[in-house]
Amino acid sequence: MSPRSFLLDDRLNAYVTSHTEPVDPVMAWLTARTQELGDRAGMQVGPDQAAFLTMLTRFAGVTNAVEVGTFTGTSALSIARGMGPSGRLLCCDVSEEWTAIARRGWADAGVSGQIDLRIAPGLETLSALPTDPVIDFAFIDADKPGYAGYYEELVPRLRPGGWIVADNTLWSGNVVNPDDTSEATEALRAYNDRAASDERVMTALMAVADGLTISQKR
Ligand SMILES: C[S@@+](CC[C@H](N)C(=O)[O-])C[C@H]1O[C@@H](n2cnc3c(N)ncnc32)[C@H](O)[C@@H]1O
Repeated sequence: MSPRSFLLDDRLNAYVTSHTEPVDPVMAWLTARTQELGDRAGMQVGPDQAAFLTMLTRFAGVTNAVEVGTFTGTSALSIARGMGPSGRLLCCDVSEEWTAIARRGWADAGVSGQIDLRIAPGLETLSALPTDPVIDFAFIDADKPGYAGYYEELVPRLRPGGWIVADNTLWSGNVVNPDDTSEATEALRAYNDRAASDERVMTALMAVADGLTISQKR
């Protein structure tokens, strides 16, 4: 599999993968189906990030999670596995086609009962949620121009100590390329600026994978 991180070449990527929990048959099936989508397959989180999401959600005792951008279901499966049977994950996506693959994988993994998948623009789903601060963990990995809006809906709903993890926030390094003024790049710059300066949270931009901006509610 080609590197999911611009920080890794093929050799280092192979090393990272060979020192990470091997994927189980359901993850392997999800990856194989995702590869059949061609270039789109690059949107899937890599095995190291998938393992990290499971370890993190288990470690933090997450039971109430939200994901914006589900695609073929790998990150959602990782979060669901980390939470265990009592955990609940709300997934937001706009694609019936890609999430149909996710649903099959989740059923095979026995986690379907933990996941509530809503097919609608993420902002619509999030803004309709109750405003109580009860979310333990949120993973943002959808359309980049939407990130700021997802963040503003999620922060008030996070419990104190809860996390928002936003993916791809280094955007292959393009966030520091002044010649790149594309909508996605500008949106990710604005997201990182907002998260870093927002007094309601403490933020660390981690240079792993394609960049993870992690914000914890104070
Ligand atoms: C990078 S992929 C997500 C990858 C996924 N987290 C994984 O583990 O493989 C981005 C997803 O965001 C979804 N998306 C795009 N625009 C959206 C929107 N406005 N609301 C919700 N989801 C959206 C796409 O359909 C796509 O499935």
